[in-house]
Amino acid sequence: MNIGRSQAGSLVRLTSGIPGLDEMIEGGLPFPSVVLVAGAAGTGKTTFALRFLTEGAAKGERGLLFTTLSEPTQWMLRYASQFEFVDPDLFGDAIVYHDLGTVIREAEPSELLRIMEDRIAEVMPQRIVIDPLSVLGDMLVGNYRSFLFDLTNRLKNWNATTLVTGEVPPGELYPAEISYAVDGIILLMMSEEEGARRKYLEVLKMRGTAHMTEKRSIDINRQEGIVVLRSRF
Ligand SMILES: Nc1ncnc2c1ncn2[C@@H]1O[C@H](COP(=O)(O)OP(=O)(O)O)[C@@H](O)[C@H]1O
Ligand SMILES: [Mg+2]
Repeated sequence: MNIGRSQAGSLVRLTSGIPGLDEMIEGGLPFPSVVLVAGAAGTGKTTFALRFLTEGAAKGERGLLFTTLSEPTQWMLRYASQFEFVDPDLFGDAIVYHDLGTVIREAEPSELLRIMEDRIAEVMPQRIVIDPLSVLGDMLVGNYRSFLFDLTNRLKNWNATTLVTGEVPPGELYPAEISYAVDGIILLMMSEEEGARRKYLEVLKMRGTAHMTEKRSIDINRQEGIVVLRSRF
């Protein structure tokens, strides 16, 4: 379990598995912490989260993937396993999959938190993903901010690094409500330049970390998922 970790300062960190990213954040994501990966549709949030979980699985760290989209396991796996780094056999034990779609529509926020915490206690993961977290905003009107506050506080009490993804409308950078509650924010962006669609990553904040502040080009491919390119453009 020490293999996936590196030490910078006094913080334990988990490697992201994303080539080029860890060197931007002093070796990895603080453990424990809650980090928001934000971007418009198609910028690579789910790819990022899957890479983070499979990296953990390769190092003997358990993963727990909560989705909020009412997606059956087989459906999620059909897409995820298009990536070469995703071995479907990892799902079930090394990475536990739990869809919250139905519960979100039917349960009170406190009930939702209880269900999530029960699952975390059962699985005891080092890596947790909630993808996408932002859909809860539409369902928990009024309670959303206090729910996010409770959720992130409780997540920090478990020994895990949690990635939450936030989908934003084109042109917006990140969901403001979520950004208040998290320890780190990684932005994924897309822009149209000379007819080509280019993708970028930027570390907006990372508590306890002297992170790089510049925008880096990224590539998304079947072999590695997301790769941070060395040159700026
Ligand atoms: N298996 C794959 N091989 C290559 N590119 C892919 C693959 N799967 C997804 N992509 C590319 O990555 C983009 C981002 O996908 P995704 O991570 O699902 O974005 P988000 O979760 O932010 O909506 C897709 O729109 C597609 O262009
Ligand atoms: Mg997604």
